[in-house]
Parts: sequence; C-alpha cells; structure tokens
Amino acid sequence: MIARTAGTESEAASAAPIIPAPPRFDIRTQDCIDFLRGLPAESVDLIVTDPAYSGMNRHLRLGHGRIVGHYGKPDNERWFHEFSDDPESYAVFLRECHRVLRRDRHVYIMFDSFSMLSLGALVRDFFDVKGVVVWDKVHLGMGHYFRRRHEQIVFASKGRRKLSRRDLPDVWSVPRLHRATYPTQKPVKLFEYMVQASAEPGFLVCDPFCGSGSSGVAALLGGCGFIGADIDSRAVRIAEDRLGRFTATGEDPLEPAH
Ligand SMILES: C[S@@+](CC[C@H](N)C(=O)[O-])C[C@H]1O[C@@H](n2cnc3c(N)ncnc32)[C@H](O)[C@@H]1O
Repeated sequence: MIARTAGTESEAASAAPIIPAPPRFDIRTQDCIDFLRGLPAESVDLIVTDPAYSGMNRHLRLGHGRIVGHYGKPDNERWFHEFSDDPESYAVFLRECHRVLRRDRHVYIMFDSFSMLSLGALVRDFFDVKGVVVWDKVHLGMGHYFRRRHEQIVFASKGRRKLSRRDLPDVWSVPRLHRATYPTQKPVKLFEYMVQASAEPGFLVCDPFCGSGSSGVAALLGGCGFIGADIDSRAVRIAEDRLGRFTATGEDPLEPAH
C-alpha cells in the first residue's frame, strides 16, 4: 500500500515522493520491468537488487538435477524464474532503474561472474559506475573449475552523492546462508551495508527482484521504507510474511540473528 503526498496528477507522475504508509513496505507480484514502469520518475532513493540472471545457468547447463528439476521446463515448480539477461532486456531494465531513481542517489546491482562479464559494462551506459564490491561468501560453493566463493556488486550513482560510511572495504566477508528458506536467499547483512552506506532514515529503498525480502529487512532496519517486486508469487508471499513479522516483532523469521 503506497501513500502519495498531496499534489497534482502530473506532479505525481513525475517527481512526487512515494512513501509507503505503515507497515512501510509494499511488495508486488510483477515482472521487474512492469513494476518499474508503474513507478513515477525520480520516486525512489536507493536501488539494491540481486537479479536472477539466466546466463550462468544456461552456460553451465545447471538445473537438470533432482533438486531443481528440469531447467527450462514451463511446468517446473522447483525452479525459480529467471530474468533473460540478453543485453537488450538488460538495457531496458537499467533505463527504468535510472528513470525511477532520484538524482544524487546510489544503486547497487549484484552479478555472478558470468553475467558480470556479459552485462556489467552496460551499467556504465546509464549510471556513473563508482566501483565493484566483492561479496566474499566465506564458505566454498559449487564450481566446475575453481569453486565459487564470491559474487560482485556494481556500485554506481545517478548524480553525485557521498557515502555515509567511509569505513567499509570493497570486499565484504559475509557467510553465505546454508539451508535458507528461499533458494537464492542472501544474507541481510549484505543489503545492510548498502543501506548504511547510501541511505538516510526515511529514504525509500527499491528492489525489483526482491525474492524473500532480505533487502526489505535491511531497509526497515535502516529506518527506510521499502518497495519491491518479484515475478514469483511464492517469493512475494514469503517476503510479505517476513517483513510483516519483522515490523510487528523486530524478529526476522528467516534470519533469526537479526
Ligand atoms: C537471486 S533471487 C533474489 C533473492 C533475494 N535477494 C533474497 O535475498 O531472497 C532473484 C529473484 O528474481 C525473481 N525474478 C526472476 N525473473 C524476474 C522478473 N522478470 N521480474 C521480477 N523478478 C524476477 C526470482 O523469482 C527470484 O526470486
């Protein structure tokens, strides 16, 4: 549920701030592009997102196993949706991110190493890329050659903005989650760093691929509102329940340490 500040329709369609009314979050079951197109221009203060790139999975032919079912089968209930990460779709996504983000604000976009090489450079066409942060997952994952232990986060701005935290290195050692509730659930801590470095209380944080809502928990922890979307209604149910319980109790049911 979104409460808009008073103003004319044309103002609302351009720069009107949108502030989620209590419980201060709004999560929609929507494709990322449709979701972003539905937001007014310059209406969010920080974008933090972890897209479901298809590139790595297609390249490695993952998803033929017992656990995730058969990759690409339309009736596959076990496999989560992916965003087709061809450069054209990705450019549309980035253009919309740029449109909805206010001036003098930051954006963080996560990449696996495959998509980083194929799509990462496109971020420069839309934003001023400031750097790449490495997420060190601390524990080893799978991998045909060197076993994967990191992902990358492109950090960029629209306009000029200083970081609020100057003590963070560009390698974030945050242990990956084991046996998480959601298949691609990321630690809240990762998003907390982004929020602490680039948001102020009252900012509206946006995640167009919000999954289980880890970025939403980080936004609420930072005193921010949150607006997010996921194409999968199961993810949205999990995220809504999670943020609702977090708002009511201060406990994160998916990462009880918070
Ligand atoms: C890597 S996961 C995000 C996980 C999330 N950061 C968390 O901690 O739970 C990516 C999400 O993107 C969603 N997704 C895939 N294609 C999408 C699309 N076209 N639009 C919006 N969401 C999409 C998937 O359902 C998945 O939940």
